[in-house]
Amino acid sequence: APIVHVLGARPNFVKAAPVIDALRALGAEQAVVHTGQHYDARMSEVFFDELGLPEPDVNLGVGSGGHAEQTAALLVGLEKEFTGRSPALVIVYGDVNSTIAAALVAAKLQIPVAHVEAGLRSFDMSMPEEVNRRLTDQLSALCLVTSPEGVGHLAAEGVPVARAHFVGNPMIDTLLANLGKFDTDRVREAHALPGRYVLATMHRPANVDDPETAAALVRHLHGVADLADLVIPVHPRGRANLLAAGLDEHDGVHVLEPLGYIDFIAAVRGAAAVVTDSGGLQEETTILGVPCLTVRPNTERPITVTHGTNRLVTFEELVPAVRKSLEGEPGSANGSAPEPGRAAADRRPPLWDGHAGPRIAEVIMRYLSE
Ligand code: UD1
Repeated sequence: APIVHVLGARPNFVKAAPVIDALRALGAEQAVVHTGQHYDARMSEVFFDELGLPEPDVNLGVGSGGHAEQTAALLVGLEKEFTGRSPALVIVYGDVNSTIAAALVAAKLQIPVAHVEAGLRSFDMSMPEEVNRRLTDQLSALCLVTSPEGVGHLAAEGVPVARAHFVGNPMIDTLLANLGKFDTDRVREAHALPGRYVLATMHRPANVDDPETAAALVRHLHGVADLADLVIPVHPRGRANLLAAGLDEHDGVHVLEPLGYIDFIAAVRGAAAVVTDSGGLQEETTILGVPCLTVRPNTERPITVTHGTNRLVTFEELVPAVRKSLEGEPGSANGSAPEPGRAAADRRPPLWDGHAGPRIAEVIMRYLSE
């Protein structure tokens, strides 16, 4: 019986690549179910190509919709899929709707679930991701934890300690494995980027779904653009609201389509600072040594603040914080922005060492042989 990976959204693809590789190296039988939660070529296909992911065995094509509609389609599609394939174990990634749906269906069918990126907590139940990750961890036989504090979070919620395995961060495996491909000069030329720029990404419902909030955000982003050119690849979610608020109608703002993984990280690597509300990007900037200003009231990844280059800011704090970062003042998110290398190793959270995939594969194979 195969180990089935359930992948749905962009960040899932980045986390799964090293796990699939490591399981393949151990000779495991595997299948990949793509739920189709993300379906635009730029949100999905390009990641499969660039990361060398195997072609999905099936794509359920669930697409977009409200939470109920999307989750319902995921549940129905995944139940059929798991019933047909009888997986030995299902691996789910991160905190997206595909993650909780797959965990719920597998648990009901008594198929063990392994959750990669278990234990993260923002303690903010207004975020759909927090709901998804809490419930997924409760349903998982193996909680594969990326950051040490995650083990304590699981214990506090009554998850038996034997289920929690601190294995490190597979998203960082992918980053380190591709480090040689992040060519800043090439990406500058390919996308006509300015010499010095701040890179922004914004897609959280709390920041972009309400037109008035999105407009306020755009005003602050224009303030950033007054300090340095602002490059912003726009996620489909929020695109309409940000553009309606005039995002690109300001000097120095460069709106791009969503980028593939290699171009995106190359653009991050070349940025003077990053402004974001993404989860994964807080981690990637920590390893790349790029100052990161996260426009959120909280983070499920506090280690990127304590060890890394991340800092949480309100809308009002954004422009002053970017100014500080650009000036490299002490106390800024990280003024020095060293090249990844020796300095990066000092900043590296425990086990973000490029070997999480093999550790995850080992835990899973041991579990299946018991
Ligand atoms: C999802 C995750 C979020 C993650 C993000 C990464 C959930 C609840 N949220 O958010 O945690 O940070 O992915 O990208 O699972 N759309 C397209 N093309 C696509 C995909 C989406 O146009 O390929 C548009 C649709 O209008 C859709 C909207 O984006 O309604 C939102 O997509 P959805 O899958 O609901 O969640 P994301 O906002 O992408």
